[in-house]
Amino acid sequence: MTLFNVYPLYDIEPVKAQGSYLWDKNGQEYLDLYGGHAVISVGHTHPYYVRKITQQLKNIGFYSNSVKIPSQEELADKLGKLSGLKDYSLFLVNSGAEANENALKLASFYNGRTKVIAFSKGFHGRTSAAVAVTDNPSIQAPINFAEHVQILPYNDVEALKKAVDNETCAIIVEGIQGVGGINVATDEFMKAIRKACDKTGAIFIHDSVQCGYGRSGKFFTFQHSGVKPDIITTAKGMGNGFPIGGVLISPKFEAKHGMLGTTFGGNHLACTAANAVLDIIKKEKLIQNAANIGDYFMENLKGFAGIKELRGQGLMIGIEFEKPVGPIRNTMLFEHKIFTGVAGTHTMRLLPSLAMTIKEADIFLGALKKVLSKV
Ligand SMILES: Cc1ncc(COP(=O)(O)O)c(C=O)c1O
Repeated sequence: MTLFNVYPLYDIEPVKAQGSYLWDKNGQEYLDLYGGHAVISVGHTHPYYVRKITQQLKNIGFYSNSVKIPSQEELADKLGKLSGLKDYSLFLVNSGAEANENALKLASFYNGRTKVIAFSKGFHGRTSAAVAVTDNPSIQAPINFAEHVQILPYNDVEALKKAVDNETCAIIVEGIQGVGGINVATDEFMKAIRKACDKTGAIFIHDSVQCGYGRSGKFFTFQHSGVKPDIITTAKGMGNGFPIGGVLISPKFEAKHGMLGTTFGGNHLACTAANAVLDIIKKEKLIQNAANIGDYFMENLKGFAGIKELRGQGLMIGIEFEKPVGPIRNTMLFEHKIFTGVAGTHTMRLLPSLAMTIKEADIFLGALKKVLSKV
């Protein structure tokens, strides 16, 4: 059997990782400003995280959601406290798409409606309901019908006000668009979504899969705007690489047995990983670190020639270049041994571990300056 060939691959095989570094099979070291796509939150192979998962695996690795799994309650408690959403409840899943799938389903269960508003350049995953609200027809199969979805321009308050009515089931929005190129939602836009939902009974779904879990310098990005969504979805940084996603649900929703479900969601190992992540975020003050290092990047990148625009919050940064990003990224990777992310043709995405240090930031800044002076 061969692999179904859907991913363009770098000819690099990482075999070891620690903190913000990776090593390939030839022993070559790489600095990681990509975090495996915003997934590495507390740093690769953090010793506390490894110890906790190893201990758990020796005790019990998996049993289904038909028995008590106390680490699920521990996770809900820790997450409520650290995010400031103590009165929300938690449904555990395995990925970002699955979190959004369940969020949309919950919204529709709640108000019995079907019309969903989403935003241009948004990305919400590839399962059926999630891909239907994802603004990219090339990843929608005919079965992922999207007639019920209206795509509006991002950050356009007037368009939003006109579109939301008493038939709107939900509005789904990323606080910072990741795939779309690091576009930050304005406070005015977030407040307008809250207001429109309050007026019409629509559900405000905040997709925090990429921008959440401390990456923006606050636990969730909507906390910069002072609004509270009805449903928040998380994944990526939640397990530092162990697959886990979550749907955070406001008290207005009532759970019924059998309403939602999953085989793997909330399993012992995933919860242990997620609990370790939250312990580390709290102990090492990583949300504050993300804010500080993010400011340091922004401050230092300002003076660079060849940059058209800098966007982002905390450690979710988009650097839009005047020239195409492809050759810049390749030189960063193959000459300077630094992994970065990308969005579109001209934007580099930085999504490093929240534990990134000034020293590591300086290595990136020095390398980028050299590369930009040559392209
Ligand atoms: C904002 C956002 N939502 C949802 C998803 C889908 O997450 P997953 O790939 O875990 O299904 C992603 C993935 O990149 C994302 O960035």
